[in-house]
Amino acid sequence: MERLQKILAQAGVASRRKCEEMILAGLVEVNEEKVTTLGVKADPAVDVITVNGRRIRSENKLYLMLNKPKGVITSASDPQGRKVVADFLPGIKERVYPVGRLDYDTEGLLLLTNDGEFANLLTHPSHHVPKTYHATVKGTVHGTALEKLQSGIKLEDGMTSPAEVEYHDINLDKNETTISITIYEGRNRQVRRMFEAVGHKVIKLKRIKFGDIGLQQLGRGKFRHLHPTEVQELLGSARKTHKVHKK
Ligand code: URA
Repeated sequence: MERLQKILAQAGVASRRKCEEMILAGLVEVNEEKVTTLGVKADPAVDVITVNGRRIRSENKLYLMLNKPKGVITSASDPQGRKVVADFLPGIKERVYPVGRLDYDTEGLLLLTNDGEFANLLTHPSHHVPKTYHATVKGTVHGTALEKLQSGIKLEDGMTSPAEVEYHDINLDKNETTISITIYEGRNRQVRRMFEAVGHKVIKLKRIKFGDIGLQQLGRGKFRHLHPTEVQELLGSARKTHKVHKK
């Protein structure tokens, strides 16, 4: 339960002071009952709060991008006391949850939100939103392996759908190859298992793109808010790819 003027201000109605004036002016109703005194509390998740007859948004929707470091788990808390993604979101009071997962050892672009509908759209298996990774593997990756990754690999949970792959870097001194791989699914440890199936152990995995949104210059362990146009772009790519793959 929170004071009404605080809820109104958090929902973006106006400043807290202005919201107090609105309450005193009789513009605010909670569950169809006019409130004209300050100090009344409500629960924005449960109560229907209106200003001038219009319902307020129950909570601020947040859309964040984190450059997750490796050695961090993608969950809200960890009984074993390991670092969790919430440790990297200073100042964020809302409960946000990750849009899909990244393994403990995987780094890179992780989206977080408190908008369940957005998260569902982007992670639903039938929506096939592309995710791009840089996978650094041991050894030289030959064209035949790339072709297999491209056309689909038989894993224990079934064939993978076609991926897009290209060489990103070849380090002969270290005997390592970095491949840029885009997949349209989100199975558990999928990229690692795909490379293992073609004989290459992944030694570093970093997600650099989700839909059309890239990690760009965001530093390791840093987060930023998505721009509203980025949120729309992501929703667009979920809807677009959904249609394409439904044909
Ligand atoms: N594929 C993996 O193997 N790990 C991840 O974290 C993401 C995709």
